[in-house]
Amino acid sequence: MKVIVKKDYEEASRAALEIMLDIIKNKPDAALGLATGSTPVRLYELMQEDHEKNHTSYKHIESYNLDEYYGLSDDHPQSYYYFMWHHLFNKLDIDKKNIHVPSGKGDINEVTKNYSQLLKDHPRDIQLLGLGSNGHIGFNEPGTSFTSTTHYIALKQSTIEDNAKLFFNGDVSAVPTHAITMGIQEIMDAHKVLLIACGERKAKAVKGLVEGEVTEELPASILQRHKDAIIIVDEAAASLL
Ligand code: GLP
Repeated sequence: MKVIVKKDYEEASRAALEIMLDIIKNKPDAALGLATGSTPVRLYELMQEDHEKNHTSYKHIESYNLDEYYGLSDDHPQSYYYFMWHHLFNKLDIDKKNIHVPSGKGDINEVTKNYSQLLKDHPRDIQLLGLGSNGHIGFNEPGTSFTSTTHYIALKQSTIEDNAKLFFNGDVSAVPTHAITMGIQEIMDAHKVLLIACGERKAKAVKGLVEGEVTEELPASILQRHKDAIIIVDEAAASLL
């Protein structure tokens, strides 16, 4: 696992951009595992800027998102489907048919089975990740099996509170209680993993991820066993290392 410490969020996002572009430019039909949350927002802006300025093409790029809230429609402003279009896809030349976000509605067994099969058929060249303050990746909350595939999960109260603050105007009751998430095994299947974590509120999880024991109680710690995992943190998130 390679840990890169950058001064701040901007520098961390720029370092992540280089890694993403390296894949996209060298493999025009690459499969990208993408993430939501506040962390990748700047990276996505930089990808759009690069696309506009340097015409990096996404025509043949495929995308596979990590997760989706259960119970929000695609056009709900807090759904991850909406988030991805708003923050990234809208300004790229990516083909709509190559975009995949797990469905947050319908029969749970069908949805999870179909998404798992899709991931099996389309190995990701890179998986981008944020980090929950409790160490979750995707929506794989503490206690999730390392061998999990796409599944339905109940969100921890701490995750609901974190996400309420950042995205639901502090209204805890508006945050869905469940989600569909790519499993940890499927995250580990990506050829390369790129995790970005910034800010002091991530420092404890970053310490566990980098220096702690590999345990299902801190899902991100499994990345210590990935053959090509890059962790980009800013100084605040690295403060306990
Ligand atoms: C959410 C998402 C994760 C994300 C995490 C951190 O719960 N499901 O994929 O990494 O929160 O979010 P943020 O980047 O806003 O701190």
